[in-house]
Amino acid sequence: MSQYKAYEVVEVVKKKFKGAVVKKNVDELPPGEILVDVQYSSLNYKDALSANGNKGVTRHYPHVPGIDAVGTVIETESPDFSEGQTVLITGYDLGMNTSGGFSQRIRVPVSWAARLPVGMDPATSMRLGTAGLTAGLCVDALLKNGLEIDQGEVLVTGSTGGVGIIAVGILAKLGFKVTASTGKPEMENLLKTMGATEIVGRDEFSDPSTRPLLTERWAAAVDVVGGDTLFNVIKGLRYGGSVAACGLVQSPVFQASVLPFILRGVNLLGVDSVELPLMQKERIWNKLASEWKLEALDQVCTEIGFDQLEASLATVLSGAAVGRYVLNLQS
Ligand SMILES: NC(=O)c1ccc[n+]([C@@H]2O[C@H](COP(=O)([O-])OP(=O)(O)OC[C@H]3O[C@@H](n4cnc5c(N)ncnc54)[C@H](OP(=O)(O)O)[C@@H]3O)[C@@H](O)[C@H]2O)c1
Repeated sequence: MSQYKAYEVVEVVKKKFKGAVVKKNVDELPPGEILVDVQYSSLNYKDALSANGNKGVTRHYPHVPGIDAVGTVIETESPDFSEGQTVLITGYDLGMNTSGGFSQRIRVPVSWAARLPVGMDPATSMRLGTAGLTAGLCVDALLKNGLEIDQGEVLVTGSTGGVGIIAVGILAKLGFKVTASTGKPEMENLLKTMGATEIVGRDEFSDPSTRPLLTERWAAAVDVVGGDTLFNVIKGLRYGGSVAACGLVQSPVFQASVLPFILRGVNLLGVDSVELPLMQKERIWNKLASEWKLEALDQVCTEIGFDQLEASLATVLSGAAVGRYVLNLQS
């Protein structure tokens, strides 16, 4: 089958973007060693930006977004993979300026493709997707930096979103006391199902005040929000605590002072899941398939088809999304 379906975004008039499901031909795909029959993709905040014409993510349109994909190799020029093998691709340039996973076919360099970890099925890999990988990397960064159970509460911001809800789940599974910050108090039960022990309103962290420090509360934190929220989290870290920062939903800019760093020895740990070498991604995927496996994951995931994609992307962009959206390309 050389024809396939994809969700393509075009710039209809200057700065106005619109997506639609179109038929395309494999000849239109970029070069790469493996051609993949995509089974599932997933929706991430970056996909919502790309689908809405954010030139910081995608420079040229028409474009097929989708930074995640899992599927079967149908053509290969590489001895590393054989036809019929399942591959998992997240990040690098997929869905940014390379035709992405909102498509029944992708062609990618072999260096982007991970083997599906033992114990994980394709749908689960996309329930997690880049969000799950990033949550895992944040937890890994905190653990490497010395976080231990008896040190106290761990905060997760943006906790009903993709990265946040999975970070809550992994931390709770490891035995940490997790406090979830959210703008959706009505999701308390869902957050508790994932293992949160306490819920706090996101307004508690949005104050742009110039107070140099706050009461020491958090042993560690995972922050997906950025902006003033990130600095308020830093100001509330306990002596020697760390925050893993991976997101910018509030703002990519935050105004800070050095005081929490030089008076409390706290640490700001940057987390990137996109350009990370494949071997390091695979190490986290293997943990997600084994000791970090989340029993309640399907309860925070919604499976959609092409017909629900546009509306779901709008929900993600507005900050109203809860949990993860998995796109079934075979539906
Ligand atoms: N560094 C990396 O490699 C990497 C990888 C993946 C994602 N990210 C970034 O991480 C962030 C989260 O990604 P995601 O996929 O989890 O997004 P998401 O599913 O859209 O979740 C974001 C959550 O943030 C909260 N939120 C939204 N707008 C907010 C605002 N203005 N102020 C405060 N909180 C707000 C909401 O949760 P509540 O209602 O519960 O507060 C929302 O559900 C994004 O910035 C994304 O670009 C980075």
